[in-house]
Amino acid sequence: MTPNVVKRPLQLNAQGQLRHFLSLDGLSRELLTEILDTADSFLEVGTRSVKKVPLLRGKTVCNVFFENSTRTRTTFEMAAQRLSADVITLNVSTSSTSKGETLFDTLRNLEAMAADMFVVRHADSGAAHFIAEHVCPDVAIINGGDGRHAHPTQGMLDMLTIRRHKGGFENLSVAIVGDILHSRVARSDMLALQTLGCRDIRVIGPKTLLPVGLEQYGARVFHDMTEGLKDVDVIVMLRLQRERMQGGLLPSQGEFYRLYGLSTARLAVAKPDAIVMHPGPINRGVEIESAVADGSQSVILNQVTYGIAVRMAVLSMAMSGQTAQRQLTSESASEEQN
Ligand code: NCD
Repeated sequence: MTPNVVKRPLQLNAQGQLRHFLSLDGLSRELLTEILDTADSFLEVGTRSVKKVPLLRGKTVCNVFFENSTRTRTTFEMAAQRLSADVITLNVSTSSTSKGETLFDTLRNLEAMAADMFVVRHADSGAAHFIAEHVCPDVAIINGGDGRHAHPTQGMLDMLTIRRHKGGFENLSVAIVGDILHSRVARSDMLALQTLGCRDIRVIGPKTLLPVGLEQYGARVFHDMTEGLKDVDVIVMLRLQRERMQGGLLPSQGEFYRLYGLSTARLAVAKPDAIVMHPGPINRGVEIESAVADGSQSVILNQVTYGIAVRMAVLSMAMSGQTAQRQLTSESASEEQN
């Protein structure tokens, strides 16, 4: 399976509402804004002494993680719990079985559990889309990260972070730095920024870690940090995704840090009120200096908090899109019978 495999209409119901959440590709500015507005309203729930709303009461959300995760898995669990859903998490090993068999076997088991939503993370690009196509139509599929392809809830939590700290997108300069080639976060961030009207998207990295076709996202490419970071409002740092690297794409970790690490001196090239983001897990001294990660411009931990609210928004919107679709389908079936 290769990137860019998501067929756009699959994730929307007949009324254009979300029923799966697989990729940001093809989603409108209005829909992305609705996700952000809904997430904003859920942030308040996290500050209450009783952090729950009854929106998914009686529903079962099943997290199916074929690939390791801490932040994404736990924040999806918390999001589902705050919506009053029952939550199950399966950590499925992919070590010995081939991809097709594992997915099909797992699908059959999941269907037998009669869960209402599956949050899926998989090392292969297109896995969540594959499941959405093959699972029974009443189940909503949420992509928790598929290979290098997409990580749409991370993309949206990054957008919420930017909007809450900078107020909007149109007049911002945003730089995404490091291992873009292997990063599903970078792809989802670029798509979201482009859809939300950001006019200055920059990617900075060595030639070996930049994919071809970045111009389709409206992104400008830089190989030099000082040039690329000049006067930016937002810096998104990425982890070197060594688990996805084949062969020697880098001379050494030390050399990478020397050229592309975000140090205090480099941060000074950006606007004085620039924010520093990172999806985590961060590697101190590899892509980011500790003083920057822990410094006053860092919003890395805010991203984690906002992630719960964004995941609550996506889970509740997809659930109501599924319910609306079911009603439409049963209405048209009874009309056909009459
Ligand atoms: C990212 C991921 O898994 O793609 N992390 C995350 O979701 N918190 C980025 C990464 O692993 O570097």
